[in-house]
Amino acid sequence: MIRLAFVGLGGMGRMQVQSFLKVKGHRIVAGSDPSPDARAKFLELVPGAETFENHRDLLEKTDPDAVVVAPPTGLHGSVTSDFLKAGKPVLLEKPMARTVAECRKLNRLAHEKNTLLMIAHVRRFDPYWNSWANEVRAGRIGNPVLWRHIVANLGPGRWFMDEKMGGGPLLDGAVHDYDFANSLFGDPETVLSSSIKLDPSVTAIDTGSTIVRYASGNQLLLSWSWAARGCMMHDIVGPKGFIQFGTAGLTPPATQNGNYQYCCLTNGIGKQKLLKSIKDPSMFVRQARHFVDCVNGKAECASPGTEAIKAVAVAEAVLKAGPAGQIARVKW
Ligand SMILES: NC(=O)c1ccc[n+]([C@@H]2O[C@H](COP(=O)([O-])OP(=O)(O)OC[C@H]3O[C@@H](n4cnc5c(N)ncnc54)[C@H](O)[C@@H]3O)[C@@H](O)[C@H]2O)c1
Repeated sequence: MIRLAFVGLGGMGRMQVQSFLKVKGHRIVAGSDPSPDARAKFLELVPGAETFENHRDLLEKTDPDAVVVAPPTGLHGSVTSDFLKAGKPVLLEKPMARTVAECRKLNRLAHEKNTLLMIAHVRRFDPYWNSWANEVRAGRIGNPVLWRHIVANLGPGRWFMDEKMGGGPLLDGAVHDYDFANSLFGDPETVLSSSIKLDPSVTAIDTGSTIVRYASGNQLLLSWSWAARGCMMHDIVGPKGFIQFGTAGLTPPATQNGNYQYCCLTNGIGKQKLLKSIKDPSMFVRQARHFVDCVNGKAECASPGTEAIKAVAVAEAVLKAGPAGQIARVKW
């Protein structure tokens, strides 16, 4: 039975706790967070666990077998280093770290200590996104494809909009897309990016658009804002068809009672097909189960730090090229 600890018990840390509670093969023994309120909410979920203000005390006093790390992004590098140095397997929230340089250090440490560093790129475990990705992988809309994703909403604020601690939506939000596109399209090569700042009170860039080009010829086109009110648009177009998010006007069977999410594939002769998948948050539970399996040596990590660094590298190129509307090479 793995003795598991959690570091960073805010919104996402507790979401991880709730997901792990649905998975067998481990016991949650401890949590750390400087906030008394966060620690109290953690204890409501895991009565009897030990709690600490500081993750170093947690490490020293409880010596857990594995750790889930979810503090603000700017702290990912320093906190995770302490656990990797002690040889502990880590599930680290996305983005892997604020900079590529920090990601490199973490990968080096994990390699030296021969321990697991899994990054919580939860979309890799999302049946909804994989329902369309599997059609792309199978060549059903042809090759190459263009994946377009537009997100505009008022973002989470707080440290997320601090340039050093969070990096804004083009890192913290869009990193989901960068990583998923990397897993689908292969290694990223260049970005063409343009960014603007709509909210002068924050230090991070809050709005921008970019095209990421892949060696495979596929492209990701995204526009992301945490300072504008707007809609979400999501489709994947290819030479033999296209995929839209949602039901595209088709009526799903009434028996399914909203338990499913849908994408719709339209082929070259206009024939439509719904792609069905089980709703979130099952992706978080799947991710938790995968981490436990990896720690137990029953699975090979599907989201290692050596892959996640590439998503931070895309973000770094986007943030570099955006202000002057330039092209930047993706380097990791
Ligand atoms: N996978 C996803 O969809 C998703 C969604 C939201 C956030 N996240 C990621 O999860 C991480 C946490 O985000 P959040 O939404 O929970 O933020 P949050 O602000 O709700 O929680 C962060 C917590 O970290 C604590 N903290 C601060 N310094 C700490 C330290 N040194 N050690 C331990 N804890 C510390 C804070 O007190 C707070 O309770 C971020 O990296 C974020 O990008 C992922």
